[in-house]
Amino acid sequence: MKIQLRKFDVLKSTNETAVAMAQEGAPEGTVIVAARQKGGHGRMQRVWSSPLGGLWFTVILRPQIDPQFAAQITLLAGVAVAKAVRRLYDTESVQIKWPNDLLLDGKKICGILSELQLDENGIIDYAIVGIGVNVALSDADFPAEVAATAASLNASLHKDFTCDQVLAAIMEDFGILYDKWLLLGADVVMKEWQKLNCTVGRHVLVKDNDQVIFAGTVTAVDEEGAIIVRNEQGIIQSFNFGEISIR
Ligand code: BTN
Repeated sequence: MKIQLRKFDVLKSTNETAVAMAQEGAPEGTVIVAARQKGGHGRMQRVWSSPLGGLWFTVILRPQIDPQFAAQITLLAGVAVAKAVRRLYDTESVQIKWPNDLLLDGKKICGILSELQLDENGIIDYAIVGIGVNVALSDADFPAEVAATAASLNASLHKDFTCDQVLAAIMEDFGILYDKWLLLGADVVMKEWQKLNCTVGRHVLVKDNDQVIFAGTVTAVDEEGAIIVRNEQGIIQSFNFGEISIR
């Protein structure tokens, strides 16, 4: 993947700018980075606070694949960020919580929000992958509602990397993994994801819009990125949406 960086001091949301640029024909590999976002958003329409000191960026992709496999892009992005952060910070404590949270010792250091646009024939026009990494934030930067569950990499791991260094490391892994995935299919991503995730084997509550809809043990993640959960009665359900809390 050929990477073209587009850097901004401030944007409302790099995802929104990426959508606009993708609609105007920006090529695959365009990466939109903002030093801060004024209207960053997360999953479930949540506000994503994005002050200076964090890495806020979105990658435009145009994979020529069956849209049913598009959810793998989020898993792929999680693997790329986890591998890059582990290498750069020399730590094995970063893990992936399904579907797209990266945790450091159980606290969230990165969130990923992907969107897919199909054309009128049902073929992928573009996918955008928005990634927010807490690189050099201080405790005071986190809104009260996430203060207890979020962490920042530099402070937690006693390092002093810049957002540019973290971005370069992530895009190196992202590019390599994405090219392999296009060539070889899901296996390359799924194998790495399985090694890095902290979800399989755990007892979880599956939530949709903050309501618990199922409880059980995660037995696997399938090729479409859905988790397979088995409850105490032995009923098995798969979920390709929603959120989980790990018990
Ligand atoms: C989540 O965990 O809820 C996903 C958070 C995704 C945040 C990133 S920051 C860069 C990009 N721009 C946005 O507005 N959101 C994503």
